[in-house]
Amino acid sequence: MYTISIRSTGYVLPEKIITNDDMSSIVDTSDEWIYSRTGIHSRRFVGEEQSAVSMATEAARKALLSSGISKEEIGVVLVATLSGDYATPSVACMVQQSLDLPKDIPVMDVNAACSGFCYALETARALLLAANDKQRPYGLIIGTEELSKLLDMTDRNTCVLFGDGAGAVVIEAGEGDASDYASVLGADGGDAILCPGVGREDAHIKMNGKEVFRFAVKILPSCIRKLQEKTGTREEDIDWFVCHQANARIIDHVVRSLKANDARFFRNMEHLGNTSGASIPLALGEMDEKHLLSPGQRLMLIGFGSGLTWGGILLKYAGPVCRNERELPI
Ligand code: UT7
Repeated sequence: MYTISIRSTGYVLPEKIITNDDMSSIVDTSDEWIYSRTGIHSRRFVGEEQSAVSMATEAARKALLSSGISKEEIGVVLVATLSGDYATPSVACMVQQSLDLPKDIPVMDVNAACSGFCYALETARALLLAANDKQRPYGLIIGTEELSKLLDMTDRNTCVLFGDGAGAVVIEAGEGDASDYASVLGADGGDAILCPGVGREDAHIKMNGKEVFRFAVKILPSCIRKLQEKTGTREEDIDWFVCHQANARIIDHVVRSLKANDARFFRNMEHLGNTSGASIPLALGEMDEKHLLSPGQRLMLIGFGSGLTWGGILLKYAGPVCRNERELPI
């Protein structure tokens, strides 16, 4: 079985913290409403000096630094985003240039909204398998979003939900056990979440929240069950479930419907809000920083969102590459 595992993580958050009380000075809302419906207390918005590209570059730099590999060994660079700085070049190409990454490898953005990071992981696995380059078995996979530029700050239904940030991982591809990797990707062509392209006057996220909520509480348990079937794993074989951080109530539903152990479901929407394609790598970055990840752990990553799309990945955290004792990762 050709698998991928995570070697390292990195993440970046904008400095500017926007609390629910700040939001209530902009639209008719309250901390009580937002927190009780979503589990969100605050989110980050980029300032003048940051963007989807600059955050992606910084997160990628951190993930590379802690991976223990050389950038010459990177065989693919993919970025999950719906809010890149330009229609073209892609965020991925701009990161490649800034970090002086190899040129003869696939480098592109993947837009599957909040499922984008899971789509990017499976795409990277397929590209690394196709390239079969023993010198370059690693991939740099980033999720970055500058959603604040796509918010209608007069629409309380959406503007209180989203935030900005970027996370990145270095993955390694190679032969592994059938219980170490599986993916489930899908889409149903719905428009419950809609956002016209950046630059248009109406370039704002619009969402039928109730429809998306109903979709999410069905699709998440279904992805989890399918990944378990594919890998022959049970709940207790999974160390962490890292779901897209849209709403704490969605995760509560999933835990209840699977009768699962809530402590295995990581949550950080409280201080980040919904960061779409960046939410899963941001969660992984924070988990790593809190020493919640250790080599050999099995992780289940589940995204869902606009499209409507869904994506689930079961993979292992392998930890940084350590080639000899003198070459310890930074
Ligand atoms: O990343 C993409 C995935 N997206 C999601 O997962 C989102 C899934 N959906 C949700 O999380 C929830 O549907 C929301 C948090 C978006 C909304 O919660 P809800 O319980 O479905 O509320 P609602 O849209 O049915 O609105 C209930 C009421 C309405 O007032 P009326 O019509 O009952 O008088 C809204 O106008 O709450 C009102 N409302 C607000 N009130 C205060 C809507 N937004 C706000 C607000 N503050 N920010």
